[in-house]
Amino acid sequence: MTATAACAPGKVILFGEHAVVYGRPAIAVPVTHVQAKAVILASPAAPPGRVEVDAPGIGLKAALADLPREHPLRLAVEGAQEALQIRQLPAFRLRITSTIPIASGLGSGAAVSVAVARAVSAFLGQELPVEQISAIAYRVDQAHHGTPSGIDNTVIAYAQPIFFVRGQPFERLQVGAPFTLVIGDSGLRSPTVDAVAGVRLRWQADSAAYEAIFDQVGGLAREARRAMEAGQIDALGPLMIANHALLQRLEVSCPELDRLVQAALAAGAHGAKLSGAGRGGNMIALASPESAEAVAAAIRAAGAVNTIITRIE
Ligand code: MEV
Repeated sequence: MTATAACAPGKVILFGEHAVVYGRPAIAVPVTHVQAKAVILASPAAPPGRVEVDAPGIGLKAALADLPREHPLRLAVEGAQEALQIRQLPAFRLRITSTIPIASGLGSGAAVSVAVARAVSAFLGQELPVEQISAIAYRVDQAHHGTPSGIDNTVIAYAQPIFFVRGQPFERLQVGAPFTLVIGDSGLRSPTVDAVAGVRLRWQADSAAYEAIFDQVGGLAREARRAMEAGQIDALGPLMIANHALLQRLEVSCPELDRLVQAALAAGAHGAKLSGAGRGGNMIALASPESAEAVAAAIRAAGAVNTIITRIE
């Protein structure tokens, strides 16, 4: 019996995380070295509507109907079903695997939603357009972290570098010259919902100070866009360092991430910052192709549990 499969990449945010929730621009790129994958096999012997889910990475094996209504996998499957206006699903088995670490800023949740919605719609014989896939992943994120900006589902569904402002059509970013990023995983898991809620509480307590920081972050994202489009890669390093300092002021960094950032800079990276929601998860460093291995080794020596070297073009 043939299987229907779909994948989605991870992502990193280059500039503007958190401020993007408050309407400032941000830049994100897909990371294809890590992937979420959904595979569907028909179960012709099972009664119609019987959907079995198997996600070994999170130790889940259950009937879809037994999962809570708001479970991300149930929302993604039913989102595709609803978009295709199919009353009764045929019986099938859905297996989800992912090499994207969970709660680490690389977009694992959105990638799983995108892969599942794509696989389900392909299995049902009608592949949904990318904007609908992205919208399904956004609704899943909404159910789980309340106020997502939409940047994660967008960069992952479209798998392109993007310049993103919440509530506006995103812009595809033309990268004027390729550059190398080293991604370092602190090994600390930090759910986005918690980091975003923490920023909201502090913003409520001192909105003037937080709005001023968000404005500065947004300014950096705009400058970074100009530099990236012009191929002025050297200009990105100082902008990343400045963005990390602002993220520290938003209190979303932590000693472990700061240590990885410092180690990358000491090893010759042109810039480095945390990436994603922070308080753990991943950081990124801008390196030359020649120095990338040394930067990755320095990040690991400073405590990273994993590093990825990727080229953005
Ligand atoms: C998470 O990848 C990025 C945040 O800005 C949250 C969001 O944009 O929804 C922290």
